[in-house]
Amino acid sequence: MRNVVTIGCTITREKQMEQHYQKRWPEGAIVYHIYPRSLQDSDGDGIGDIPGIISRLDHIGSLGAEAIWLSPFYPSPMADFGYDVADYCGIHPIFGTMEDFDRLMAECGRRGIKVMIDLVPNHTSDEHAWFRQSRTSRNNDYSNWYIWRDAHETSPTGNPLPPNNWRDALTGGSAWQWDEGRGQFYLHSFDVKQPDLNWSNPAVRSAIKQAMRFWLDKGVDGFRVDAVYWMAKEPLLSDDSPNPSYVEGEDLRYDAVLHNNSRGWPAVYAYLSEMADVLKEEKYQDKLRFMVTEAYPDTHNPLAAYLAFYVGVDPEVAAPFNFEGVTLPWEAGSWRRFLRSFHHALEQFSPLCVPSYAFGNHDQPRLIDRLRSVGAARSAAVMLLTLPGMSFIYYGEEIGMRNVDIPPEYVQDPAAKGDPLRSIGRDPERTPMQWTAGKHSGFSDGDSTWLPLAPDYDQNNVEAQADDPKSFLTLYRRLGQLRITSPALRSGSMTIVDTASANVVGYIREHGSEAYLVLVNFCGEDATCRMNVTLRKLLVSSELETLLAADLGEEIVLRPHEAVVFAIDPQSRT
Ligand code: NOJ
Repeated sequence: MRNVVTIGCTITREKQMEQHYQKRWPEGAIVYHIYPRSLQDSDGDGIGDIPGIISRLDHIGSLGAEAIWLSPFYPSPMADFGYDVADYCGIHPIFGTMEDFDRLMAECGRRGIKVMIDLVPNHTSDEHAWFRQSRTSRNNDYSNWYIWRDAHETSPTGNPLPPNNWRDALTGGSAWQWDEGRGQFYLHSFDVKQPDLNWSNPAVRSAIKQAMRFWLDKGVDGFRVDAVYWMAKEPLLSDDSPNPSYVEGEDLRYDAVLHNNSRGWPAVYAYLSEMADVLKEEKYQDKLRFMVTEAYPDTHNPLAAYLAFYVGVDPEVAAPFNFEGVTLPWEAGSWRRFLRSFHHALEQFSPLCVPSYAFGNHDQPRLIDRLRSVGAARSAAVMLLTLPGMSFIYYGEEIGMRNVDIPPEYVQDPAAKGDPLRSIGRDPERTPMQWTAGKHSGFSDGDSTWLPLAPDYDQNNVEAQADDPKSFLTLYRRLGQLRITSPALRSGSMTIVDTASANVVGYIREHGSEAYLVLVNFCGEDATCRMNVTLRKLLVSSELETLLAADLGEEIVLRPHEAVVFAIDPQSRT
């Protein structure tokens, strides 16, 4: 063990690293993503709220989570369930009060849980005071806070035609809405009730940074930043190019064009850097404040898209979500290639880079539904919780919740109401958390819930899984506990290794004298691996108890879709 001499004392390299990781909490943190409407209702209105969240913090802690991310809880007309913000510095009464939020901060603080909140900088609600003012005239203090344009021309029938061909990402219709009062169109990259802010206006940037300071002053540890690609558009607002591979009736209407001008211009990185600078202001140096940015790479080179964020926005305080767990096919070759190139690139660029893996969220089908296999969803859990960096668990994944069929009369999501190809929308993955076999699964005492519960909630819930050694919950808890107690899994090196099986991805996480081998079988058949390592102990299998008793031989035979974590001898690799 190498010693490092500092002024007045001698501390070990391990100790120094430990202190470093204490400060750099995102390195290795499990983050539990809460959709506030759906975790726990405390007042019987059928909608989850902040006091409900507080009452479930022990469950969240039991997963080894060291942070939570809350989807929006701000005042909002709920046209996009809170992503249409009417006041950046308030709490919607259905979620509680500012006192409730302060209590949440205190309760999280007591348990050592960091709090990240959603920040929606690209657009507000059309009911935000800024927009109300902006739409009153072409010449007021807020007139240039949104993206207003004259009609391109007038149709033969006298209707104003939009300035360009941009489409809104929720329904695929035109992203422009005519406003009679101003006699102009405004841009809405999402719902018609979500007008885009004009980020090229310094006053807008300053106002959003003020909102950040409001919450940082309350002690929040960071932000999840929404829809960042849309913050910067091509300055002349030129048409998007037609998408040559678009098939009408098969592809989403939104994808009829390529979005090459309506989003993703390089100013994105400059705007985010300004926001990152707020996190580094002297006042906020008491602890590390961090932001994770939401941008789905739409190029054929996701690696370059991710790196652009690490290079463009200080990795000391920011990281882009890594969405390969949502977009990459569940196939060994693709994952092996991606993991090798991604982690190598981050290592080369800067030791500060924090990977940030999310395998699901409130916009994506549940893992079991996306992977179409319970076994694959279980091995995905092993992978998610053993990869480096931040690992985001979307609420309910820890009990293997599935997409729920939503009868047409219960559909809520605006995305489900526009493009017919999006007909199921995002409601299926937003249904109430399943806690017990009792009334509304313990989610609410009220008469009804805002979305229907899964029909199998009486079988599939936290209470039923808690003592079942084979349950999803036991698997997540075991992985979470292993991770929080393990420097190697939290912050160790990442090396992709040859497994001698085309269907199995293997990697080693190592720190000091501790090393783990993770093997993930991506196929529905047994797979035999031969590894140049000395196995010490099998710690976790996605099949849980069955394999834990197995002998450790030369060959490792994985069952269909099985993933395992072994403790290995760190000296054994050659
Ligand atoms: C991404 C959010 O996750 C999604 O739910 C929302 O509809 C859009 N951004 C617009 O804010």
